[in-house]
Formats: sequence, C-alpha cells, structure tokens
Amino acid sequence: MSVSKEFLYGLPKAELHLHLEGTLEPELKLRLAQKNGIDIGQTTIEQVKESYQFDSLTSFLAVYYPAMNVLQDEDDFCDLAVDYLQKAKAHNVKHCELFFDPQAHTSRGVPFETVINGYYKGIEKGREMGIDAHLIMCFLRDMTADCALKTYQKALPYRDKILGIGLDSDERDNPPMKFAQVFEMAKKDGFHVTMHCDIDQQDSIGHIRDVLYKIGVERIDHGTNIVEDPSLVDYVLAHKIGFTCCPVSNSFVTSDMKGREMTYLLQRGAKITVNSDDPAYFQSYISDDYYALATKYNLSKEDMIQIAKNSFEVSWISDEAKRKYIRMIDEYAASVE
Ligand code: HPA
Ligand code: ZN
Repeated sequence: MSVSKEFLYGLPKAELHLHLEGTLEPELKLRLAQKNGIDIGQTTIEQVKESYQFDSLTSFLAVYYPAMNVLQDEDDFCDLAVDYLQKAKAHNVKHCELFFDPQAHTSRGVPFETVINGYYKGIEKGREMGIDAHLIMCFLRDMTADCALKTYQKALPYRDKILGIGLDSDERDNPPMKFAQVFEMAKKDGFHVTMHCDIDQQDSIGHIRDVLYKIGVERIDHGTNIVEDPSLVDYVLAHKIGFTCCPVSNSFVTSDMKGREMTYLLQRGAKITVNSDDPAYFQSYISDDYYALATKYNLSKEDMIQIAKNSFEVSWISDEAKRKYIRMIDEYAASVE
C-alpha cells in the first residue's frame, strides 16, 4: 500500500539540509526589495518565478546569489528564518539544523553580526513556536581558503550561536581538501562538521573519500555517488555517517532524484535522511520531498518511518532527545494505523 501525503506531513521529523537563503520566497523577496529600495529587475511574483531557470548546480547558484541582495538588516534575516520556521511547523519538523552562508552577505558589505544576530533572533522565535532550531555556518567553497579562515575568526565570538560548520556552493574545482585547515580548527574547537558532496561532480567519489577519511565529517550533504565505491559504503555503515539527501533538489540540478541510490543505501542500513535544500526555489518543502521520493520509488510506510527516525539519529542532539523523538514517531505511527 502506498503511503499517504497526510501521513508524511504529520510524521515528526528533523530537517538537516536546508539553506536559510534558499527559503527566500518570491513574496518576501519583493517585499524586502521594496523596503530596502533595491532593484532586482522583477516586480511581480510571476516574473520572479520565471527567472528560476536552472538545470545544474552552477546555473542554480547564478540565480540564487543575486537574490540575496534584498537581505540588508537584522530584521530581514530574522523574517526570513521565521517564515521558514512557520512552514516547517506545518510539516511537523520538530528539530532543524539550518545552513547559512555569511560570506554571501559580508562580501556585499553586510556585517557578520547583522547576519548572525538576525538569524539567531529568528531561531529564538522558532523555539517559542516549539521548534528546536540551530545554525550551521557554511563556507562558500568557491571563495578562498583564506577567506574561510577569516570568516571562521569572525564567527568565534558567536560560537554559542553556532552548532556546526559546513561547506557549500560550487564544488567544481573546489575540492574538500582546499578547506582542510579550517575544518581541522573547527573540529578542535568542538564544532560539529558536515560537508556538501554534490551529485555527479567531477571526481565525486574522490571528494567523498577525502571528506570521510581525511576531513572526518559526521554527515555528508547529498553524497549518493558513494554507491560507486562499495568500500566507502562499508565505511559509512560502520561509522553511522548520515546522508542528508534532497530528492527534489536533485531532480532540478541533475537528471533525476537519485532515489535508486537512496533506496539502495537505505536498504543496506545507511542513515539516509530526506530534506528540502532550497525549498523556495524547488517549490518543495520537506514533506513534499518525502512524498515525491516515496511515490516515485514505491517506498513503504516503514521505509519512510525509518527515514524520519534516521533524521533524529544523525542530528546533533543528546541521546535522550533522540530517544524522545523516536518514541514520538512510534506513537504517531501507532495512532494513525
Ligand atoms: N549545494 C551547494 N551549494 C548550495 C546548495 C547545494 O545543494 N544549496 C544552496 N547552496
Ligand atoms: Zn545544499
């Protein structure tokens, strides 16, 4: 029996791969453009949506970064986070670890403290709404290693507001080892670490090998190219490394959702999770991603429950909190049978 959309919306879940800047919906973009007097070249929602033309990570990023110009003051960053958290609540997200890209803002003159203080205010409001939200600071891998180090230094006074460190943006010619030094520092300083290994990149498998063996990440964002090397699959099974997969995002920036790879890994017992990545751009929030994957690849209710449990298991919360959320999933599944 196929699994219903309602069941997936109500399933308690954690979101672990979500770029706050990727939640900028056309309505908020237009409102902030007007408020801040910024010409974004579009004045209607339809025009904004028409500009969403991409078929690769590179062409997606070319639309994604210019849009961020509308984010100027603390309130703008706070509003962006709150808008997302309200949607997350409707999808029964209980816990989330959210990426943000400070360099996308500092590089255009917005101070680091504006970004972190604004997002953190939003996070606090989310907690008042009952969502346990946290921030993961990502470095832009198409900027220099030195710029990442400087950004890391700027972030240290705010370390109590940052749960982990990540790496995103254009992977082409920007391998993980470019950032080995700053990730080594972050690990020593007690941050959790994760890195994007985007789908079907040049030398994807070499990058995955390095993030596992040399960087020593706790999770991989995307990363399903790992199926190309069985020894690496054995390694992630042994070390319980999480994968934050984003099926709908994959279907936009590559030729498919990569659900076959996800299903294979899930069946092997790998900690596969499902997330929305940049939901405003792919018009799919987390339960829509669960539903898209389940329907296209004929996954069972049990498979989807396992994915939701994985999302808490590989999250960066206490063992006690993990047990609490997993119990919540079991109670939910029993109550709707
Ligand atoms: N990969 C790399 N950079 C990104 C992504 C992604 O999935 N989303 C937003 N920035
Ligand atoms: Zn991403």
